[in-house]
Amino acid sequence: MYLMESAPGARTVISGKEVDYFCGTGYYGLQGHPEIIKAACEAVSKYGIGSATSRSGYGNNPVLLEVEERASKFFGEESALYYVSGYLGNSILLQGLQDEYEIIFVDKESHYSVIDGASITNKPLVLFAHLDAEDLRKKIRKHLKSSQRPLLICDGIFPVTGEISPIPEYLKVLEEFDESIICVDDAHATGVIGEKGRGSFEYFGLRGKKMHSSGTLSKALGGHGGIIAGDREFIEKLRRKSNIPYSSSAVPTPAAAATAKALEILDRKPELIRKLWDKVFYAKKALRDLGFDINETPVPIICLHIKSADLEALQLELFKKGIAVFYVAAGSYSGVPEGGAIRIAVFSTHTKEQIDRLVREIKKLL
Ligand SMILES: Cc1ncc(COP(=O)(O)O)c(C=O)c1O
Repeated sequence: MYLMESAPGARTVISGKEVDYFCGTGYYGLQGHPEIIKAACEAVSKYGIGSATSRSGYGNNPVLLEVEERASKFFGEESALYYVSGYLGNSILLQGLQDEYEIIFVDKESHYSVIDGASITNKPLVLFAHLDAEDLRKKIRKHLKSSQRPLLICDGIFPVTGEISPIPEYLKVLEEFDESIICVDDAHATGVIGEKGRGSFEYFGLRGKKMHSSGTLSKALGGHGGIIAGDREFIEKLRRKSNIPYSSSAVPTPAAAATAKALEILDRKPELIRKLWDKVFYAKKALRDLGFDINETPVPIICLHIKSADLEALQLELFKKGIAVFYVAAGSYSGVPEGGAIRIAVFSTHTKEQIDRLVREIKKLL
């Protein structure tokens, strides 16, 4: 088992060895940022670890409210709801909207948190083929009765393949059915895609009353916890209809303070988003030049899926050379292609020399 013995960043200490680190989701290297660490330390001195009561009682504090305020601004919305883990976002959305749909349609490769969220509602769940709007249409026509309203939920970006869900195509299908809703798990899109890093809907230039997303502040943003933004009425509804955010302990206060600082840094330095995309385009082009079939999106997840190669051995050999990439075995995580894949994460903090070395070593080993 590998042990991470430093903050994750472009250089990370793993099991006693400092390596070029191309794994995980800390795309801006904020987890080890000095301002963020300082904010967490100051908050823990003032508030302790947490409030030891749920947010429905005395458990609110200024740090939690600051995160919600900063997140509302980040997403360009009136309000936001901050809770302990991005994993719970889909459950909160589906519980909050429970009176507004009868059947849930889910991309079959969706993240576990999507499937779990759908399961707790006790509403029928229908899976459709991965990224396939035509199959979605077929499944809705087959399963939806005339008095029923459909809700579609899927990952905005898939965590291993980095594929983006074809949301405009899904919306075209949903337009055929009255009062349909779309929810997107934007855990990997938050802070990453869209002009202002607001995620999948911004990436496609979409906004609408029946379009909702849940995000995480634990990945690109370098803090911790889940986030849903929207108008005041919608956020109030989620608070009323889902027990999760206010009947559980909030995000520990130092982690919330780190998150507020991370949001402040991204607000102060919006150029970080472009810097990340530049590195992503650079890495993707270099791998494409080697002959890999790699998409041209700004998503910082690169999936190498080579049927003829021993990908686990590739991970081990790269690690010996001081480069960490991650081999994801088929069936070990949601959405892994058959035969497994090497997942490479690109950070804004990677140097071009690090990326060149990664590509060079992959070329030598394959
Ligand atoms: C698509 C997706 N949704 C939700 C989560 C959970 O988010 P969090 O780590 O913030 O709980 C993850 C990953 O960890 C994910 O990949």
